[in-house]
This record gives sequence, structure tokens and C-alpha cells, in this order.
Amino acid sequence: MKTLAYGRQWINDDDIAEVVKVLKGDWLTMGPSVEAFEKALADYAGVKHAVTFSSGTAALHGAMHASGMAAGDLAVTTAMTFVATSNSVIYTGAKPIFADIDPDTLCMNPNEAEKIIESNGGRVKAIIPVSFGGYPFDIGAFRKLADKYHAVLIEDASHAWGGDRGNHKIGFDADMTTLSFHPVKHITTAEGGAVLTQNDDYARKLRMFRNHGTTRNPSEFIDKPDGIWHSEMQELGYNYRLSEVHCALGLSQMKRLNEFVDRRREIARLYFRELSGIEGLTLPPDKEGHAWHLYVARVKEELHGQFFEYLRDNDIRLQLHYRPVPLQPYYRKKYGFKAGDFPEAERYYRQAVSLPMFPMMTDDDVLRVTECIKNFRWR
Ligand SMILES: Cc1ncc(COP(=O)(O)O)c(C=O)c1O
Repeated sequence: MKTLAYGRQWINDDDIAEVVKVLKGDWLTMGPSVEAFEKALADYAGVKHAVTFSSGTAALHGAMHASGMAAGDLAVTTAMTFVATSNSVIYTGAKPIFADIDPDTLCMNPNEAEKIIESNGGRVKAIIPVSFGGYPFDIGAFRKLADKYHAVLIEDASHAWGGDRGNHKIGFDADMTTLSFHPVKHITTAEGGAVLTQNDDYARKLRMFRNHGTTRNPSEFIDKPDGIWHSEMQELGYNYRLSEVHCALGLSQMKRLNEFVDRRREIARLYFRELSGIEGLTLPPDKEGHAWHLYVARVKEELHGQFFEYLRDNDIRLQLHYRPVPLQPYYRKKYGFKAGDFPEAERYYRQAVSLPMFPMMTDDDVLRVTECIKNFRWR
């Protein structure tokens, strides 16, 4: 039987044709496709700026830099995320501090965030919640914290592109929102990412940072131009540019973003319908506007390992998102975190399972997963 992955991209002939067009054209990097893709991203979220990066991780690094974060600063994020979220804080020389999750949303618990900020003397440069699995958590509580502690609010929405929060698209609410276009995400550019913002100054810093800290914009020059060739390096940046080839793919994928999200929502509904009422299986938090990057269920602890093996033996690949970041060996060694520091995230980790979820899945694929789960020896 065909092996069912937990996630995968959906590339069609139109996507391929757009990429081929770029390969035959004049620009391979920093040309019209970058501009058009950035405009499509910004327009979709209803924000002024989208700045593309070579990965979601590079986008996070850019956002941390643009926030002004540097050595000596602290930034709070959730214990339940991909390592890139907090690694990007460390890249700037700052230190990540972690808050436990709210078990009802699996996202950062704002009360826990406040506690950890307070225990660090109220000093925090950025607050970085993650819309885990695509769940559009209530951002109001984090906005209040950001206002209270004069911090920058950065949403890592790598899981949530195409989702909604009330009448806003994800990408609208935070000071900066970061996206990833890795193949399992809502749209893909193979590798790639972006930062969305309404703020002109952040956008300017982001553009410079991804291009070696340089600018060719006369209005930004510090020195008197030597001639029409003049450009300046004003700060230390990186080559974090996303190529024309990647952006052409992204622009083409954007045309189907709504379709992709709708299909993910249909798959989630099918899982809920088929899987409710199984003792030992807890289904994920549900909410209007959810983007369903992941369908994260919980299996009771004593069956967790067997469940993974049983589905693997039936050619169904599961994933586990995530081992709590502060308990990774690097973080334990560097900062002294230990088991028991984040009880809700740790409990979740001992039960978590991400079922296959990608728009190319057919109803039959979904039913194959649910039948298999129903036939698992639950007691
Ligand atoms: C929550 C989260 N943040 C950041 C990233 C990093 O994105 P990328 O793989 O595009 O560098 C990912 C990607 O898996 C992610 O899931």
C-alpha cells in the first residue's frame, strides 16, 4: 500500500510553467518576481509590507534584528515550538526565556508569559507567540503584555498562513509576523519565508538585513553619494535573499492559497467526524479561522509509542510536534532548563501525534487513516 506522508507540497503545471518562465528570463534574483510575490503576500494579509527571506528561520532572524534585539536582551516565547523560533533570538546575542502552553490552545499561555517576564524584572525586548498548528490564538492578551512591557510583538505564523483572526487575516495583528514556505506549509517556495509588517522602519531594516546590511536607496544614505553607482553598507547583514525562481513559485502558489486552506479545513472536519468518541484519543483544539497546518491529537501516554509504531506498520507516517525546546540538549546545557520546568508542554509531548494533513489528501486517504486508528487496540 502507498505510504501516506504526514505532509507534502502540491505543485501543479501552472507552478512549473511560472518557474520555467523565470529560468528562461533575464532575472534570477532580486527582480520582478520578488516584488510581485511580496505584493501578493502583503495584499493578502492587508498589510503595507512583506519582505521575503531565504527561509522562515532567516525571516525570524530578520524580525528579531528589526526589533532592535541585541546582546543583553531577553525575549519570551513558547516552550512548544520549532527550535528556529528561539534559535533566532540567540542569533542576535539575546537570551530566550520560555513560557508554558495553555493546554486548551497548545499556544503560549499569556499568564505564564507574564510570570516569566516578571521574574526577570519586567525586562523583555520581544514577545513571540506561535500560532501552533495553525490555531489563531487570542492575540489581545499578548498585545496588552507588549504594551505593558514596551516590547515588540512578533507572531511566528509559520503554521498559520491563510488563517483568520476575527475579520483579519493572520499577518495583520502583530508588529511583525513571520511565515515559512517549507514544502509542508500552506504554500511552498521549496525553502523560503517572509516577514509582514505595517511599520515602514521595520520594513527598511528587514530589507537591509537580508542584503548584507546594504542600501541603494538615496533617501537612506549616510554619506554624500560618490556617483550614480553609490551604495552603502550601514550595518552587518546577511545574504538572506529569496531568488526569482522561488518567488515565481510562491506567487503561483498564492493563487491557490484559499483553496489549500479550505481543503485543510475539510480534512479537519472529516477527522473530527470520524474520530470523536474514541476513549484514549483527544482531538485538537478547534476554532473559527484555524489554518490547520497540523492536526494534532493526543494519545494516552501508555499507548503513545505503540500508536506510532502501529500506524507506521500500516504505512501511515505520523510526526511529533514538538519536543519542548528548552529541554533539547543544547538549551539544557546552555541555560540549565530541566524536566519539570514546563509541565503542560511536557505532558503534551508525551501524548502528541500529528496525523497526515495536506491538501492533496483525498477523502479516501483520510478514511484510511481513521479506519486504521479505529482498529488500533485502544485497551
Ligand atoms: C513554528 C516554526 N517556526 C519557524 C520555522 C522555520 O521555518 P523554515 O523551515 O522555513 O526555516 C518552522 C518550520 O518548520 C516552524 O514550524
